[in-house]
Amino acid sequence: MKPLPWHLLPETAAVDETGGLMIGGCDVQEVAEEFGTPVFIYDELHLRNRCREAVSLFGRHATYATKAFLCKAMATLAHEEGMSLDVATGGELHIALAAGVPAADLVFHGNNKSVTELRAAIDAGVGRIVVDSFDELERLEQLHLSGGHSPEILLRVTPGVEAHTHEFIATGQDDSKFGFTVSTGLAAQAVQRALASDAVNLVGIHAHIGSQVFRVESFAQSLAVLGEFAEPLGLPELVVGGGLGVPYVEGEEAPTISQWGRILKEHAAQAGITATLGIEPGRSIAAGAAITAYTVGTIKHLSGIRNYVAVDGGMSDNPRPVLYGSGYETFLPRAPRAERPFEARIVGKHCESGDILVREAKLPEGVVVGDILATPVTGAYGHSMGSNYNKVLRPPVVFCADGDARQVVRRERLEDLLLTDLG
Ligand code: LLP
Repeated sequence: MKPLPWHLLPETAAVDETGGLMIGGCDVQEVAEEFGTPVFIYDELHLRNRCREAVSLFGRHATYATKAFLCKAMATLAHEEGMSLDVATGGELHIALAAGVPAADLVFHGNNKSVTELRAAIDAGVGRIVVDSFDELERLEQLHLSGGHSPEILLRVTPGVEAHTHEFIATGQDDSKFGFTVSTGLAAQAVQRALASDAVNLVGIHAHIGSQVFRVESFAQSLAVLGEFAEPLGLPELVVGGGLGVPYVEGEEAPTISQWGRILKEHAAQAGITATLGIEPGRSIAAGAAITAYTVGTIKHLSGIRNYVAVDGGMSDNPRPVLYGSGYETFLPRAPRAERPFEARIVGKHCESGDILVREAKLPEGVVVGDILATPVTGAYGHSMGSNYNKVLRPPVVFCADGDARQVVRRERLEDLLLTDLG
């Protein structure tokens, strides 16, 4: 029955005189009409304020994990606010560079970087490469022999921490494809090898325990292991990754970036860590900043079974419910404060029954075909993990600030679908 919990909306969310939702001073219904649906609507100030929180505690050692949401405008915004950027593939590197972010402020990640990607990163002059395997060290040595300069690197280690999150996004446990395990001695071997190599300049240790982590104890455990492992090495930098969870649905609560940052610093001090601490938030910067607006196209009342409300997007703009069973709330931007007694399953337009956006949604009474329906907290891992399955056109991204709705990514067009098709 209850209305949408207001804190799930972006920071500048407000209602206008008709009771409709405004974001960044823009009327959400009007934005949806102007740019069509589905559309990702971001609150630019929300994004900026989350970056500012991170930067105020960590300076440029606050690195935005671009995998959460990346386009040129986002790369520019995060960098303008003082963050460095984490890129995890040649593709993310390409976009960050195209946005004009100085390579020196980029951190290059990935558990299986190709020679081409490593060469591109070194040629561009990325600030740090986070080395993930002995094979990668070998590739860097080969590249060095063929004339590249020696990049500054961090070694990614797995501290043996089981973060409480979905199995697919937990990365700190020993049984992981990422990094060098501390407990097996591989991490220590990697340090020795990197220190002995002319091909790289080891400046620190990196760990990332997982994503959508609510319990700060998991980070504290990681810091304890890292303190013991890294401090004796005397390296100048230690990065604890990203992973701070965000609330998606009623009842969920998470620390703010400032709270998380302060806790990390306290635990680092307790663990005797003197290296400069860095963080790599993605979700906590971008998730809460956006809503996705859809148009309702079909409503089916299956008597005694359930109600289905189908919208004009689906698993192609938000695969998280299908991949991780993630929950979302739903509301109508024309009445964001309305009670929601109508129960329905929100589904997309793709050709499979698994194409579910919200399994057990609550909506206001009187939803009709043609209504704009929205899901909040879709700013991270939605646009970035989207696809054009069924050849649906990827939605545009609109940044709203000070009453201005600025389209930063346009909707895909039919001709885009044939760009790579050689016939
Ligand atoms: N640093 C590294 C090395 C990472 O692998 C990640 C996320 C981050 C930082 C940022 O983590 P965040 O602060 O966003 O939690 N697609 C999944 C999430 C995958 C996270 C992958 N790595 C989802 O939609 O939940």
